[in-house]
Amino acid sequence: MSMFNRVSGTLHCEGVPMDQLADAVGTPAYVYSAAAIRDQFRRLDAVLAPVPHRIHYACKANASLGLLAVIREAGARIDVVSGGELYRAQLAGFAPDEIIFGGVGKSAHELREAIAAGVHVISVESEPELRQIDALAGLAGTTARVGIRVNPEITVETFHDYIKTGEKGDKFGVPFDEAHTVATLAHALPHVTLVAIGMHIGSQLTDLAAYTDGISRLEALIGRLRAEGVDTLEHVDIGGGLFVPYEGEAPADLAGYASIVVPAVQRLGLELIIEPGRFLIAEAGVLLARVLYRKRSGGRDVLITDTGMNDLLRPSHYDAYHRIEAVHAVAGRRRFDVVGPICESGDFLALDRDIEDVQPGALLCVFTAGAYGISMASNYNARPRAAEVLVDGSRWAVITARETYTDLVRRESVTPEWRNS
Ligand SMILES: Cc1ncc(COP(=O)(O)O)c(C=O)c1O
Repeated sequence: MSMFNRVSGTLHCEGVPMDQLADAVGTPAYVYSAAAIRDQFRRLDAVLAPVPHRIHYACKANASLGLLAVIREAGARIDVVSGGELYRAQLAGFAPDEIIFGGVGKSAHELREAIAAGVHVISVESEPELRQIDALAGLAGTTARVGIRVNPEITVETFHDYIKTGEKGDKFGVPFDEAHTVATLAHALPHVTLVAIGMHIGSQLTDLAAYTDGISRLEALIGRLRAEGVDTLEHVDIGGGLFVPYEGEAPADLAGYASIVVPAVQRLGLELIIEPGRFLIAEAGVLLARVLYRKRSGGRDVLITDTGMNDLLRPSHYDAYHRIEAVHAVAGRRRFDVVGPICESGDFLALDRDIEDVQPGALLCVFTAGAYGISMASNYNARPRAAEVLVDGSRWAVITARETYTDLVRRESVTPEWRNS
């Protein structure tokens, strides 16, 4: 059920009119519905109820502190992929045993931080990384809990090649034919304990068969390791990837997902970990923007807005579709290119899109922008990043202030302080 609805022709987020938010906070602004996040969490949690499970929100999707708090209070744990995300998770109140730490290129510094924090699992993506974790844990006088992220090397159907991660040759995970060797090494090394075998095969998975194929490879590996005496495994981790409709497609088939996952977890007798990012947050967020100008170019109608690829990179980077609607209902429709102010021809929100026939000054709402929106935002063209607003019922709060020009230059100096003269 959407938490963004029209009341007397004006779009609302839960009980709050979007035009009121634009007047109070300005545009561009991300607006999130707390109820939508809680609802998605509850639906996912419910289908996995037959098995012991942990839902670790992949905060790369959106790591704003105010949202992390909502997600934690809903009952989720967290998946981080950098020292910065670990820092955010801790600030948002996640306990060490609620945090798993993944990522293909963790630095020694980041690994030391994860070991010192005592996170629940550090997910290993290569043999050299495993040896480094063992050495660093030894130096710290402790034992690190590790999982092996396996690349099951299966066929993955997604919306874009950039979000496939489980096919042969992808940079992620330990290639399937090396996974047994690396897991056996993890079992043997003195300063790590092998607690998980996992995968993350991609994002926006359009075919659940990929989970079936990937899980069966994990099951084979786990069976072999157990037969050889590995008795420390606690978790099977099947990553994220659940589908989110952007363009009116059917939503993720949660019952179908559970029908693949639940029996496998029951056969394995392990606790399940999943790492959903997009699923929990994408539909809970919109990007609110204003039309600055309207013009004709090459026979096309163009709307120039005050937001662009620096705020929402997905249309440009992934050729992604985001539904756009006027905040105030307008009679008549027209085909527009909806573009941003950035000096790049790739700076667009939508091309040749049929939307309301709006005029300069109109407010636009860009839907399904909660995931990989603000977390991929940049300061390109020295544009301050957008404000973020959380709505909960009829209440709203600014959870991230709009950046200022001073924020843009805070770490820079006009005059170099030479170090070697
Ligand atoms: C290791 C890992 N886990 C989970 C996710 C979350 O994926 P999604 O947002 O599709 O659920 C990602 C996203 O790339 C990832 O790399």
